[in-house]
Amino acid sequence: MPHHDLIVIGAGPGGYVAAIRAAQLGKNVACVEREPLLGGTCLRVGCIPSKALLESSHLYEQATHGWADRGIGLSKVQLDLAAMLKHKQQVVNTLGGGIDGLFKKHKITRYLGHASFDGPGRVIVKGSKDEQELTADKVLIATGSSVASLPGIDIDEDRIVSSTGALSFNEVPKHLIVIGAGYIGLEMGTVWRRLGAQVTVLEYLDRILPGMDAQVAKEAQKIFTKQGLEFRLGCRVAGVKVTRKGCEVQIDGQDSVQGDRVLVSVGRRPNTTGLNLESIEVKATDRGFITVDEHFETSQSGVFAIGDVIGGAMLAHKAEEEGIACVEQLYTGYGHVNYDAIPGVCYTEPEIATVGKSEEALKEEGRAYRKGQFPFMANGRAQASGHMDGFVKILADAQTDRVLGVHIIGAHAGELIAECASAMEFGASSEDIARCCHAHPTLAETVKEAALAVDGRAIHF
Ligand code: NAI
Repeated sequence: MPHHDLIVIGAGPGGYVAAIRAAQLGKNVACVEREPLLGGTCLRVGCIPSKALLESSHLYEQATHGWADRGIGLSKVQLDLAAMLKHKQQVVNTLGGGIDGLFKKHKITRYLGHASFDGPGRVIVKGSKDEQELTADKVLIATGSSVASLPGIDIDEDRIVSSTGALSFNEVPKHLIVIGAGYIGLEMGTVWRRLGAQVTVLEYLDRILPGMDAQVAKEAQKIFTKQGLEFRLGCRVAGVKVTRKGCEVQIDGQDSVQGDRVLVSVGRRPNTTGLNLESIEVKATDRGFITVDEHFETSQSGVFAIGDVIGGAMLAHKAEEEGIACVEQLYTGYGHVNYDAIPGVCYTEPEIATVGKSEEALKEEGRAYRKGQFPFMANGRAQASGHMDGFVKILADAQTDRVLGVHIIGAHAGELIAECASAMEFGASSEDIARCCHAHPTLAETVKEAALAVDGRAIHF
């Protein structure tokens, strides 16, 4: 029976990164994954394919509207959806193959099949043809999450789709109804709107992007509405009926909405079914998330868990940080995740990026803060490149000036936030950011100016 120092269950960004780090630390590591392509939801049907489609649909939209004001004329722009989807798949396959290569380089044994526990330190891998039993000193559960639905809605990945189906429509929907104005709803709604669909977003709350800074979410709604997304807030979706004509989305206390496709993007739930956790002592919360201590160890000694399956922000990079910290704590005695400095990015146009506390969270804590804000409109590079929407907002402690949160809506916000996350990781003050030289002309100067604005001394606004 094969024995390993560590078995990682799941090869998503949390699991495969943890496996590589453990191998770097000299351990004999195995990784069990049921999908032939490594990389998990993020790579197969999440972050990566959606970014490929966001990028391609953005180019298409820009080309369709032309750049006459910049002296570039285009005629006869055509959409070849099949080619666009093929490109997306090629990106996915290339990156998946890359992880295979990394596993080989680090001599990680890969098992293809569904893993379940058979008592502490024992894992059964059920492949398509056979079953294999493995043993290990330690086991790391990194099984991620799956799409959640609503009662009364059966996702068939045809008419009623999750993000997976919405990445592969073989024709542009006429009217796509999106349930949920979170990350997935806005990103995928944006893709299909750009490609020509009418898109209606139904959201239960009275705002979009719950959890994000409210001022940023409000600005986002304004910009997306101008782009053509239709929002209906305060809509509690009660069910979806598939009819001969398409789909009818029923809303509590309101008229139903008709469309030809429906995207259900109301969150995700942890993947624990089929792991036979009953055979070990792993505890879970009411919502099914595995409970772990500060070392990511479950209530069963020697069994660890990281990523979406333990809850918190369901983000690939949060899972990666946890995977590395867990393995380093195990094999070097030190590892750490700073949950206050984990950025979140919504890859719409403009992008929305955030790190640290929102204004609402600070108010709720009763923490005194100062705020510096700077609009993209007042930045030279933004003007030159035609990216004038949005702003950077920096929130700093009123007494110490320590940066507590940064919220950006604007071009390349997802890249700009990296500087802010690093600053927060180093415990920087807004003065620290303001005193760093930023190259001119760059969009990054908006961050410096927002930091200056905390103290009322932005130069260009
Ligand atoms: P989400 O939690 O971001 O948003 C779900 C939305 O659905 C919420 O606004 C909620 O109020 C709404 N909702 C819930 N029930 C409803 C109902 N009955 N009727 C109408 N609206 C309802 O979830 P989403 O967008 O499905 O994403 C899942 C996870 O994947 C998130 O945790 C997100 O962090 C992650 N993700 C991250 C991305 C990124 O980092 N760029 C991209 C895509 C997903």
